Amino acid sequence: MNKKPYYITTPIYYVNDVPHIGNAYTTLAADILARFHRLDGYDVFFLTGTDEHGQKTEKAAEKNKTTPLELADRVVENYRKLWKHLQISNDDFIRTTEDRHKKVVLDIIQKVIKKGDIYLGQYEDWYCIPCEAFWTETQITDGNCPTCSRKVEKLKEESYFFRMSKYEKELLAHIEKNPDFIQPESRRNEVVSFIKTGLRDLSISRTTISWGIPVPEIEKTNKKHILYVWFDALINYLSGIGYLENSSQFNHYWSTAIHLIGKDILRFHAVYWPTMLLSIGLPLPKKIFAHGWITGKSGEKISKSKGNAIDPYAVTQEFGLDPLRYFLFREIPFGLDGEYSREAFIHRVNSDLANDYGNLLSRTLTMVQKYCKGVVPQKPKNLTSQDQLLINLSQKVVQETKDHLQAISFSKALIAIWTLIGATNRYLETMAPWKLAKEGKTQELEKTLYLCLEVLRISALLTYAFMPESSQKIWSALGIQDKIEEHTLLESSTWGHIQEGQLTHIIPPLFPRIQTS
Ligand code: MSP
Repeated sequence: MNKKPYYITTPIYYVNDVPHIGNAYTTLAADILARFHRLDGYDVFFLTGTDEHGQKTEKAAEKNKTTPLELADRVVENYRKLWKHLQISNDDFIRTTEDRHKKVVLDIIQKVIKKGDIYLGQYEDWYCIPCEAFWTETQITDGNCPTCSRKVEKLKEESYFFRMSKYEKELLAHIEKNPDFIQPESRRNEVVSFIKTGLRDLSISRTTISWGIPVPEIEKTNKKHILYVWFDALINYLSGIGYLENSSQFNHYWSTAIHLIGKDILRFHAVYWPTMLLSIGLPLPKKIFAHGWITGKSGEKISKSKGNAIDPYAVTQEFGLDPLRYFLFREIPFGLDGEYSREAFIHRVNSDLANDYGNLLSRTLTMVQKYCKGVVPQKPKNLTSQDQLLINLSQKVVQETKDHLQAISFSKALIAIWTLIGATNRYLETMAPWKLAKEGKTQELEKTLYLCLEVLRISALLTYAFMPESSQKIWSALGIQDKIEEHTLLESSTWGHIQEGQLTHIIPPLFPRIQTS
């Protein structure tokens, strides 16, 4: 059977500084979707990478007394190391300084030129270097960038322009016809009102910087034009899946593209990028989803420049990786801003992971050891309506998890999974296997434990994308020999697959309670 393609991307990260938890947020989200869809039988391509050209990198290199490429080479290693540490399962990593990318960029420019969509003009307005963004007089506030609140600088230089205005109507029509194209809805509305104020042509070259891809001469000029870094960077979504070199792979994935981005870079993705694609006649991506910011206590975006950045290594060293992956996507509804707080983190880990999930696992395994010599009992036949309710719930939750992740709603998916975990904990309390043992009701006792083991198996499948390592540990503790990723939801998430007679193992607490003094 041919697998359905699923193409998921993160923004490509600037190489001016070391990564922090805010950058990790988008990549972790993409990883959860990639892992879940692989398990759900899709043929997934998960792309991330680095955005290495432009003034921001040029300035950072100057400050570090090095060349932009040397700086990039160094910072890229930090990203690769962090992604490995966070168990990111990307299929490729694209750098915009790679030849495979630059070739595609030049090809796209030629196509846009051929279409008659580029002309020489004069840019005179504002520019924010940290955001690499052009702003008009009316958009800036007190001389500051409306996105990052830092000082903007006045530019007046010759520039090539892309006829973005030409695609205004076509883009609006596409957004209207495809309500899921820009998500969440509030962001979609924001983009629609922005377009309705009238799209201007986009300046796509700079003559006052030198670090970037040179634009071929289009009209007679003495100036050397360097391509605007966003025009260059957005094209990574094409070059990363082989737009020129591997057209069958490209065609297979492209129309399924989902771009996960932060809300600060919405305009580039939901306006500039689609109009570029309309110019070269490529289909638009399937979805652009803009998430909110992880904020500090005062509600400010966490960032290096604000000095409130959180080091992912420090957090994982203190609490472990899976609790971090769980916390970020359970605590903050994806799409909204949310505060990163140590107290909230500890509370989540202790209540959801240690109390609910961890306890269900350790109680079940301990009782299976005590009453069944660690062996998975026979698949039960005489089910009561209470047993059946739990079984039905497990199947409902599988479907709900799929639906919520299809809609990129991580917290709802986790809430659904926890209804199953909660219900099973209550089932265990009501059935009280320790009493059944005393009363010699072996059949009922074994049935109860079978049901708990089976719920744990299904839960491990469902939590795998969020917490790969812990879920695999649960899987193995249940006595299953292979890896979760060798399974699919289709064959494994239905009821009754745990093998009777297989030997379970008691393992140390997966999510130890965090002590607060
Ligand atoms: N290079 C551009 C993207 C080009 S994509 C063709 C860029 N890079 S970035 O390194 O500045 O940011 C990358 C992503 O990190 C953005 O989606 C941004 O929203 C995200 N985050 C950075 N800080 C963040 C938080 N504090 N919270 C959540 N995400 C934030 O932009």
